[in-house]
Amino acid sequence: MRHDHITSAKQLSREDILMVLDRASEIAADPAAVSQKRQGSLLGLLFFEPSTRTKMSFSAAMKRLGGDIVDMGPVEHSSVKKGESLADTVRVVEGYADALVMRHPSEGSAQMASEFVDVPLINAGDGAGQHPTQTLLDLYTIRENAGLDDLTIGIMGDLKYGRTVHSLAHALTNFETRQHFISPETLKLPRSVRYDLHDGGTEIKTHTDIESILPELDVLYVTRIQEERFPDKNEYREVAGQYQIDATLLEQASDDLTVMHPLPRVDEIATNVDETEHATYFEQAHNGVPVRMALLDLLLGETNE
Ligand code: NCD
Repeated sequence: MRHDHITSAKQLSREDILMVLDRASEIAADPAAVSQKRQGSLLGLLFFEPSTRTKMSFSAAMKRLGGDIVDMGPVEHSSVKKGESLADTVRVVEGYADALVMRHPSEGSAQMASEFVDVPLINAGDGAGQHPTQTLLDLYTIRENAGLDDLTIGIMGDLKYGRTVHSLAHALTNFETRQHFISPETLKLPRSVRYDLHDGGTEIKTHTDIESILPELDVLYVTRIQEERFPDKNEYREVAGQYQIDATLLEQASDDLTVMHPLPRVDEIATNVDETEHATYFEQAHNGVPVRMALLDLLLGETNE
C-alpha cells in the first residue's frame, strides 16, 4: 500500500480499496495459507474509548496471521491517568510494536498521533471524525451482497456524529453510487463532509423519513445515535428512538435489500429484523477479521520491505 498510516477514508483510492478487499477475499477463502505469515510481529492496541468489535477483530486478525498483540488496556490503568500526553504515549508504544491501532475521543487525534511515529498507525475511530477500517469491512460486505457499482444506498441515523458514516460516504465516492442520507434535521451530515462529497462529484439526496426512499434501496446502512457525543443531553433525548426499522417496515423494501449496521445497536433495528433475509449486520461484523488481516498484512509488508 502507498500509505504508512491509515487515518482517514479520504486517503483511500479505488485501487487501494479494491486491493484490500481482494486480499481479504483470498484470505477468507484460505485463512490457513497466511496463518504463520506474521509470526513475530506485534500489533499495539491503544483504545482510549470503549470497543468490542474493532478491538477484538484487530486482535483476532493479528493472531490469525501468526502475530500477537500488546494492549495498553483500559485508560484508567495507563500513564495517561498520570497526565501523559498522547504524543508521548504513542512515541513510547511504537517501540513495542510493528504497527499501532488507536481509538480516541478527539477528532483529529489519529492524524496528530501519526505525525509522531514511524510504524503504521491505524485510526480505529477519532471522536466524530473517521473510522476507515470499519469502512473497508463495510465495503467488503456491500460488495459481497449488493455489488459496489450501480448501487443505491441509504445511510440513516446519526449522520452528524457518526464517524462510520463520514468514512463510508467518502469511500463510496470512488464507486458509482447514489447516496441517500436519512436523518432528523439536527443530525444531518456535517457541512465539511457534504462539501467534500460535492467536490468529488457525488450527488447526494437528503431525507427526513425513510418510507419514501426505502423501496429504491439496495443497501440500508443504519447507525446508532451517538449519545456520548451530544454536548446537550436534552438534544439527544429529542432524537433518541426516532429512527427505527422493523420487519413490518421492511415489507415495503425490495426483497434483495441488504440491511447493515456497524453495531452496537440500541433500538434502531428491531430484533425481528434479525430473522429476515435482509439482516447482514452480524456477517458484517465477522467480515472485520479477514478485512483487517488483509490490511495488516499489506501494511506490515511495506514496513519490512
Ligand atoms: C462504531 C464506532 O465505534 O464508531 N462501532 C464500531 O466500531 N463497529 C459505531 C458506533 O459506536 O455506533
